[in-house]
Order: sequence, then C-alpha cells, then structure tokens
Amino acid sequence: MKNTLKGFGAALCVALPFIAQAPAHSATPAATPAAAQAADPALVQRGAYLAKLGDCVACHTAPKGKPFAGGLPMMTPMGQIYTTNITPDPQTGIGSYTEEDFARAMREGVAKDGHNLYPAMPYPSYAKVNDDDMKALYAFFMSGVAPVQQANRAPDIKWPLNMRWPLKFWNMAFLEKGAYQDKPGKDAAWNRGAYLIQGLGHCGSCHTPRGIAFQEKALDESGSAFLTGGVLDGWFAANLTGEHNVGLGRWNEQDLQAFLKTGANRHASAFGSMTSVINNSTQGMTDADIAAMTTYLKSLPPAGGSGAPPYTYDPQATKVSLNRPANDAGARVYTAYCMHCHGVDGRGFAPMLAPLAGNPNVLEKDPSSLINVTLNGTDDLVVGGVPSPFPMPKFAPVLDDKQIADVLSFVRAGWNNGAPAVTAAEVAKLRKSTQAAR
Ligand code: HEC
Ligand code: HEC
Ligand code: HEC
Repeated sequence: MKNTLKGFGAALCVALPFIAQAPAHSATPAATPAAAQAADPALVQRGAYLAKLGDCVACHTAPKGKPFAGGLPMMTPMGQIYTTNITPDPQTGIGSYTEEDFARAMREGVAKDGHNLYPAMPYPSYAKVNDDDMKALYAFFMSGVAPVQQANRAPDIKWPLNMRWPLKFWNMAFLEKGAYQDKPGKDAAWNRGAYLIQGLGHCGSCHTPRGIAFQEKALDESGSAFLTGGVLDGWFAANLTGEHNVGLGRWNEQDLQAFLKTGANRHASAFGSMTSVINNSTQGMTDADIAAMTTYLKSLPPAGGSGAPPYTYDPQATKVSLNRPANDAGARVYTAYCMHCHGVDGRGFAPMLAPLAGNPNVLEKDPSSLINVTLNGTDDLVVGGVPSPFPMPKFAPVLDDKQIADVLSFVRAGWNNGAPAVTAAEVAKLRKSTQAAR
C-alpha cells in the first residue's frame, strides 16, 4: 500500500487564519517508562492481535521498510505527509511515551510534545478503543516491537498550510470522545462487531463518505451516511449496508465471512485499497471476531443507493452486441481485451474472478474504482502467504481514455446492470492523479 490519501486536508483549508508554526515533529529523548518494567507476555500477545485489528503496520511501514518505523508517504490535498516511527526507540520512535501519552495520541490525535496529528491517523475511530485494549496495545508497542532508530520525515507541506493548531478546531467539531459503550438490547456478538468496525477496524475511514472538512459524515450507525461508501485516494470503498444493489444486501453471513477471511467469495474479490486491509488485518482475525463484524454489518439497514429496482440477471441484450460488436465501441474493446477473462456472460469464475454482472462495484453510481482498476490493475492479494494467481492487468499503457470509458459504459449497461455511463473526462482525471502517485 502506498500513497493512501486519508483526505482531511480541506479542514485546514477551510478558512482558518495563520499565526504560528507547529512545534518540531520529533519526540524528546527521555526515560523509557514501560520498557523498564517487565511486560506480561500474555498482555503483549493480546496487544499484537489488537495491532493487527487496527492495521497499524499498513500505514506505519514504508515500502521495504522496517515494520512500524514509519515513512510511508500519504498524499493529502495540501501535500505529502509521512507516517511516523512508532517503534519503542526513545529518540526517534515512541519509546518515551507513557501509557497516557500513547492513549492521548490514539484517542485525541495529540503527540507527546503536544502537537496535533493530522487525521490521516484514524484517531476519530481509535477514540472508541477501551482502556483494557489500550493497555495491551501499549504493552505490545513497548515490549513486542523491535526499536528502530529512524528519524521522522517532516511533511512536504509549506507554510502556512503546515500549521497544525487549526486541527484543534477540527477536533472540537468532529471528534467524538469516549470509548465504545455496549448498546443495550443488542447481544454480545453485535456489540463486539460494532466495537471492532467503528473502533480499531476504522472501516468508516474509507467506507463512510466525507463532508466539507473531510470529516467522516457519521462515526456509527446512528448516522444515515455511515458505511454508505466513499471515495478515498481514487478508490470508491463500497456501500456496506444492506442495500440490495450496491450494498451487501445479496450477501449472506458466510459470503461476508469468506470475503474478510480470504478476500474473495462468489460475489466479489478484493482489489484497490481493500487489498491491504485483507492482507494485513482481517485475514488474521479470529473466527469469532469475523463473525461478530458480520453480525453487525448484516444488521445495518439499507441506505445509500439510487433507488433502482432490485437487480436481476439478464444475459440477452449484451449477448447480441458481443456477437456483433462492430457497431458498439464498448463491446469492441470488451471482446478484444476483457472477454477472455470476464466472460461473455459477465459471470466470471468465482471466487477466482468476480462477476461483472450485478457486481455492487459495477452498479455503484461512482465509477472511480472501476476506472482505477482498469487503468492500474490489481495489487497482489496475499492470503495465507500465497499471492493470488490471477491479478487483473493494467490497461493504462494499452487503452486510451475514450476506450476505457467506452468499455466501462458497456459493462455498466450490460447484463441488466443499469448503471450510468462513464465519460472519457472521468478516466482522464483518474489517469492523471493515479499516475502522479506512482
Ligand atoms: C491510515 C493510516 C494509519 C493507520 C492505520 C494508523 N496510523 Fe498512526 N499515524 C498515521 C499518521 C499519518 C501519523 C502521523 C500524523 C502526523 O504526522 O500528523 C500517525 C501517528 C501516530 C502516532 C503519533 C506518533 C508520532 O510521533 O507522530 C501514534 C502513537 C500512532 N500513530 C499509533 C498508531 C497505532 C497504535 C495504530 C494501530 C492501532 C496506528 N497508528 C494506525 C497513520 C496511521
Ligand atoms: C483503506 C481503505 C479501506 C478500509 C480501511 C476498509 N476498506 Fe473495505 N473496501 C475498500 C475499497 C476501496 C473497496 C472496493 C474494492 C473491493 O470491492 O475490494 C472495499 C470493499 C469492501 C467489501 C466488498 C464490498 C463489495 O460490495 O464488493 C467489504 C465487505 C469490505 N470492504 C469490508 C470492510 C471492512 C469490514 C473494513 C474494516 C475492518 C474495511 N472494509 C476497511 C477500502 C477499504
Ligand atoms: C487476465 C485476466 C483479466 C483481464 C484480461 C481483464 N480482467 Fe478485469 N479483473 C480480473 C481480475 C483477476 C480482477 C480482480 C479480482 C476480481 O474482482 O475478481 C478483475 C477485476 C475487474 C473489475 C472490478 C470487479 C469487481 O470485483 O468489482 C473490473 C470493473 C474489471 N476487472 C474490468 C475489466 C475490463 C474493462 C477489462 C478489459 C479492458 C478487464 N477487466 C480485463 C482479471 C482480468
């Protein structure tokens, strides 16, 4: 995973005046409070599991870098920032953090020296982590992670946009304080699932649409926008509510469990920014935690979507244009470049290759993920140490913007998908932004 835009920067652009420069971005050398005490191995081990649930390694590790030593570039609307060293090195990492310092960074987005963190760090979600889990996470980062001496890189954001104090106002407006509280009337699995999805899993940081200041529009199911899908870094993270066409309405609990455990099922297989979530996080979850998340997600009522009638498969119209593609620009591209993998019937070969017919990502109004995957292909999904044998190739070097728009418009109209056409301008825009990031 690289260059994951955790958009929020507009928060800073939202007309806040500029006064002082932020404090220097480094930890002060000090005693190592936790390393001094012998940590309980069981606690450290539980912390390691929780760090997996929180997917800390995905962001806090640079490509080919040491685990948790930071340095991964993340694009924001204001410029590039870099994740920080969270190994227990006292000079360059978080070795001097007390448990209180650590909990404050996780829940309030404030570093030990008092500077505010950019919400690229998903602290609005981690705010829900309870005290027991925070203690275990802290024990893991102090005693279960090897210290790495590697200085943090300052953000490539120029004054005055690099000032961090306006984030205090952002936090006042958008940060909900307080750990997750069990909801009465819901069973233990539902509450565990809600805790994981809203908290450490930070699923909403991609799957919930963002508002004017790039804040997530809802942080739990009490808000109607919660998990209804959002665009981040050129990928549309799908609707996870019970919506029939673009959401998970047609998935049963086993489908959802298989997807989170293996990255694929009969409806879909993971691509884009979801790949790293499966690779680093969900595949390592216990069956009980996967089942809890599934219980919670399946309880979310349908929301979002276009109000179109429930999808039903229809091979007819598409078959005609695929047999005689001469008059249909999209069908011509499809037969030449896509059909040998995705099929005449658009049904794919699940779970190796997801169907295009009726696929929620295909039916979704926002075509970002479809354009992006066609331009740039898929990154390797690695489940149980085995890379997926059938990646989708990248077509950016082969097809121009109009050809990609034509073939995706064809796919979106085909097999009764009924989704709106894609324009060459939309393809050009994503080609530009995703190629720049590569
Ligand atoms: C989506 C990416 C992302 C994930 C996931 C993430 N972080 Fe961060 N984290 C960041 C970024 C970016 C910063 C630095 C922000 C800044 O410089 O303002 C940061 C900063 C921090 C800091 C402050 C340290 C410092 O000196 O800046 C701590 C502590 C931290 N993260 C811990 C964690 C832990 C523990 C997890 C897993 C539970 C985690 N992070 C998961 C992106 C992430
Ligand atoms: C870094 C961004 C990101 C995070 C974090 C994230 N997702 Fe995703 N997710 C995506 C994207 C992008 C897609 C669409 C591509 C695909 O279908 O794989 C997606 C797709 C999915 C799908 C398939 C939906 C469909 O209709 O095909 C499921 C299920 C899912 N995510 C569940 C989760 C859960 C549960 C979490 C939290 C534990 C989570 N995701 C966290 C980006 C993310
Ligand atoms: C070599 C085989 C192969 C070829 C050729 C191919 N694809 Fe794919 N495609 C895949 C695989 C594998 C995936 C990712 C996993 C999945 O979704 O099943 C994928 C995913 C997709 C997706 C996302 C589907 C989803 O799950 O939401 C779209 C859209 C897509 N391809 C369109 C195209 C188009 C358009 C072409 C032709 C220009 C094409 N593909 C050519 C193998 C292929």
